[in-house]
Amino acid sequence: MQRQTLRRMGVEVWQRRDAPREVAPVAEESSAAPAQPVPAKDAAPAPVQSAPADSPQSNLARIGEEVAACQKCELHKSRKNTVFGCGDARADWMFIGEAPGQNEDLQGLPFVGRAGKLLDEMIAALGMKRERVFIANVLKCRPPGNRDPQPGEVEKCEPYLRRQLEIIRPKVIVALGRISAQALLKSAEPLGRLRGRIYQYGDENIPLVVTYHPAYLLRSPEQKAKAWEDLWQARTVAAAE
Ligand code: URA
Repeated sequence: MQRQTLRRMGVEVWQRRDAPREVAPVAEESSAAPAQPVPAKDAAPAPVQSAPADSPQSNLARIGEEVAACQKCELHKSRKNTVFGCGDARADWMFIGEAPGQNEDLQGLPFVGRAGKLLDEMIAALGMKRERVFIANVLKCRPPGNRDPQPGEVEKCEPYLRRQLEIIRPKVIVALGRISAQALLKSAEPLGRLRGRIYQYGDENIPLVVTYHPAYLLRSPEQKAKAWEDLWQARTVAAAE
């Protein structure tokens, strides 16, 4: 099954004859309460059913409400919805992209287009489900025409992401693509130089691994094997935490 998933991701799977047949699953599914998507639309987030007032879910939902009302930059004027992020408020893995695109803006959810489908397959290749990780973006609103985020927009939006990370405290962060990696690491280095190392994010020193953005992998499928190396590195880090 996992080998099939890797193939779907476009990674050639070679197996030594003496190797175990299956790659061990990355992480056991958490025994925490079932994942509850964090509402992301401009409309007030749906009530968090029976979550204690101080639970990670409730704390995230409160930030979601702030994001839905945010007018800190010009992007609020053109957005259809804010895209807060979704997934398990106690996730071990957090995937962070750049900014919502058109589909995400329309649905208020991250990574729902073609790139999102590939991200789902990458997550599945790691033995997990989308609902058990947390997926967010550096920017919560779509830049018009999918242009790159501007530094001022990143600066204004970043506190939301930082607070999300402080609440979720994942075992590992995967930065998807150059924009996300540079924003999180406060670096101007190209993606190729940022890959292959393990960083520590924030005061909590959350391990952070950089990989290619799924949209780039759709355009350059020959890089999928390298992306898989990155994910495997992240898996090793998460398992050690
Ligand atoms: N690309 C991103 O970086 N984020 C999304 O949510 C969708 C596409």
